[in-house]
Amino acid sequence: MENLNKEKVNMLLDELSFSKEDKSNFWSIINPIIKHEEFQKRLDSTIYSHHRNISLGSHILKVAIITYYLAKQKAKKNPNIDVKTAVIIAMFHDLYELPWQHSIIVKSKTVNRHGFTHPLEAIINSSTWYPEYFADEKTRDIIIDGIVHHMYPFPVRAITTNFESTELNNLDKLDYLDSKIKSSIIKSTLHHHIGNISFSKSKYEEGKIMSKADKIVSFKKDFNYLNYIKLRLIKINYRFRKS
Ligand SMILES: [Fe+2]
Ligand SMILES: [Fe+2]
Repeated sequence: MENLNKEKVNMLLDELSFSKEDKSNFWSIINPIIKHEEFQKRLDSTIYSHHRNISLGSHILKVAIITYYLAKQKAKKNPNIDVKTAVIIAMFHDLYELPWQHSIIVKSKTVNRHGFTHPLEAIINSSTWYPEYFADEKTRDIIIDGIVHHMYPFPVRAITTNFESTELNNLDKLDYLDSKIKSSIIKSTLHHHIGNISFSKSKYEEGKIMSKADKIVSFKKDFNYLNYIKLRLIKINYRFRKS
């Protein structure tokens, strides 16, 4: 099992040539989120293992690193991109309720299975554990929409009737959830929906960047994704120089 600690995160930041300023900025964004006991639990691979032999928390941290990297690159051309919000989406995107590989809970509908519904559980959990990030209306909508559609092109469960019909594993938290958060989740899931599923990218750049980072981390084995990014950048620069 591979788990990230502070030292390993710093090694990855160095491999991506993060400046001193970027390193400190990155840590200042993720530190308040990592500290929470629920995040700490997910860093333990004996409780929450993820794909490719890493803990869920380590997967999330890798996605956050790549998100920061990509968002900074994109922000050079588009200063409207909010790097901090993109990283926050990454830190929240997979904070689902149960370690799904070992779950014995059987859902009555295919569309209620983990792949389709875990983004919704992640929003309910993160807005419960970190309510301060959901206080501002605009930022709240960007974060929620980014988490809802992070699996694109894989679809997400659309809430066409009510939350209960989705059989989420954390429905018990719903009673304590702000109605504005609930309506923002519903609105996002209904974007480009066909029946009970929605096929849509996030409406916002921050969510699109995070979703891309999730694919890079999930489909490139181990740390090879760092080389993958560097290679892509070399190719892009080459094409740019030729044109
Ligand atoms: Fe996910
Ligand atoms: Fe993920």
